[in-house]
Amino acid sequence: MTEALPVLLDVDTGGDDALALLLAMASPTLDVRGITCVAGNCALEQVVSNTLTLLDAIDAPPVPVAAGMDRPVLNPGLPAPALHGGDGMGDLGLPAPRRCRAGEHAVEFLRRTLSDADEPVTLICLAPLSNIAMLLRMYPRIGEKIERLYVMGGTYAAPGNTTPAGEFNVCHDPEAASIVLQSGLPVTLYPLDPFMQVRITEEEAKALTQSKGAGARIAGGIILHYCRFFGMAFSLIGDAGTVATVIDPEGATTVGKPVHVELSSGVTRGATVFDRRILTDGFAREGEWTEVDVVTKVDAPRYRKLMAVALGALEALDE
Ligand code: BDR
Ligand code: CA
Repeated sequence: MTEALPVLLDVDTGGDDALALLLAMASPTLDVRGITCVAGNCALEQVVSNTLTLLDAIDAPPVPVAAGMDRPVLNPGLPAPALHGGDGMGDLGLPAPRRCRAGEHAVEFLRRTLSDADEPVTLICLAPLSNIAMLLRMYPRIGEKIERLYVMGGTYAAPGNTTPAGEFNVCHDPEAASIVLQSGLPVTLYPLDPFMQVRITEEEAKALTQSKGAGARIAGGIILHYCRFFGMAFSLIGDAGTVATVIDPEGATTVGKPVHVELSSGVTRGATVFDRRILTDGFAREGEWTEVDVVTKVDAPRYRKLMAVALGALEALDE
């Protein structure tokens, strides 16, 4: 048997971050060494509380949860989007957490955990990149202990979801996204293009809410909340697709492309621009560009199945 991959998750739980955590915590191929929280889908305190409550609900082992940046590195950031509900988790009426957070700031927790690790660790970043950018700026040599960053953020060919050209995690903290994506560390970017591809229907979500497992019931409630918010008969597994890419990379199609994060003010601030030209040598390209692996497409049935297995709810999610 191959050893589980050591990972750290950075989240803004957040309904779809909750789905991602359910998948990661259930996967025997991942060894979750810690979870760091950052403001994004809701305020930092709510993110921490949601994360701890979710771990309580599934009776998770005592994985450390550390609170980090309560705002972007430079700018005030965006208001919490209404789509996640008043508590960021679809207002399911979940109880207050029983378990406690770690005593350290997330950036210090990441530095210590990475430094102490025997081997480089994979970071799964599902939120604005404020914690990770601070880590890389404060401790530049820590990159040696990072195996790869899987980052949910940006758009490749798809439209934005926060501005016409920009995705939420990048738009909330564009400077942080630029620092991380231009760091030169190995990055797999999971943009809105694959994010939009893995769906769960309203009927399936209803079936999930009747499941035996607490995680499946919460997942069903979250998906139903999104269906109702958007008035759609389906919703997305969202951030959980990024985790699926780590667990099962063969389900993802990737392409290596140079990326630039637009930082100037105006309508394209926070857009991820890719150099998709066939010939780039000798052609003008101003600003910072770094090649990243971009997930352009995923095998949706394969990732739905991963999710169904993780939730222990194969019968609720049809092929
Ligand atoms: C991203 O922003 C949040 O709404 C989701 O949790 C996801 O990480 C999608 O733009
Ligand atoms: Ca998120």
